[in-house]
Amino acid sequence: MTITTARPATAADHGTDPEHPAGRRVLTGDRPTGPLHLGHYFGTLRNRVRLQRQGAELFVVVADYQVITDRDIADRLAEHSENLVIDYLATGLDPESATIFAHSAVPALNQLLLPFLSLVSIAELGRNPTVKDEIAHSRQSAVSGLMFTYPVHQAADILFCKADLVPVGQDQLPHLEVARTVARRFNERYGAGIFPRPRALLSAAPLLPGTDGSKMSKSRGNAIALAADEDETARLVRGATTDADRRITYDPAGRPGVAGLLLLAALCQDRDPGQLAEEIGDGGAAALKRTVTEAVNEHLRPIRARRAELAADRGHIRQVLRAGAERANAVADATLAEVRAAMGAVGSA
Ligand code: TRP
Repeated sequence: MTITTARPATAADHGTDPEHPAGRRVLTGDRPTGPLHLGHYFGTLRNRVRLQRQGAELFVVVADYQVITDRDIADRLAEHSENLVIDYLATGLDPESATIFAHSAVPALNQLLLPFLSLVSIAELGRNPTVKDEIAHSRQSAVSGLMFTYPVHQAADILFCKADLVPVGQDQLPHLEVARTVARRFNERYGAGIFPRPRALLSAAPLLPGTDGSKMSKSRGNAIALAADEDETARLVRGATTDADRRITYDPAGRPGVAGLLLLAALCQDRDPGQLAEEIGDGGAAALKRTVTEAVNEHLRPIRARRAELAADRGHIRQVLRAGAERANAVADATLAEVRAAMGAVGSA
């Protein structure tokens, strides 16, 4: 068996802005483990909606099989999956043109995992830095085979629809590299140009810290959910870590807590965090927190109102997922047929 090493990614492989979004196919997704928060919103959700408005064709995967990589049981899976769709639609994704689906509902996508697994070595799977990090933070006593192989499954998410752009955060770049490697090796091994090499689209927004100054993440308890109400938002911001210096300045390295709050308000108001700091001046942490709470609640008000409407009609949400699965299945069936034909499988078309 020969497995050639991937060429390391260069800056040109990935970008923050696609030149021509119209006509491009974009795939991205999330694990249905809980409500999406402002980190997701500024990091990727807004980007997706922008790409859709610019004419890109979106595929969004509710990555339900990926939930059981770092835990034994996918807790309240249906509820979390539906809430994810509610968050998507509330922030502006249009289900008429975007294909929103759960990957467990698309058998042909999952079947791609088998030939794809033959294209990567155990050593490569073990080297993936994001997987290593997840193992370090996992609450499981034993690491499952899925923990090591899910990046290849994620390659199937990306390649089944031949996506050319994948809007993701920095932590997903190793997975994107796996997808690129699988695409290249499949084409080389079977002499078929079936798969394009997908590119990552990194968010232009800086990484959003949570209310304790470290990366916003549900598991750290420092996140403000899109679904949180105004009082809960106020409470979370009030509890945020700041410092004793009354004069507010924007200094991400020296004052991560204060800088995180400034960034959050600045993103909500589409302005510069340094300027905002000057405006608050000697107002101290109390004035800063008041500003942040107002900025977040104001920005999210229409999204939360739309969220509440959507949440009242679960039947509609399930219908969106059914229609998405139907479209995704048609695309996955066609790709799998190409793959089987390239491999010379008996009974293929
Ligand atoms: N791994 C991603 C996350 O944890 C979710 C995901 C699954 C994904 N499949 C994908 C992201 C395909 C981009 C492309 O958030």
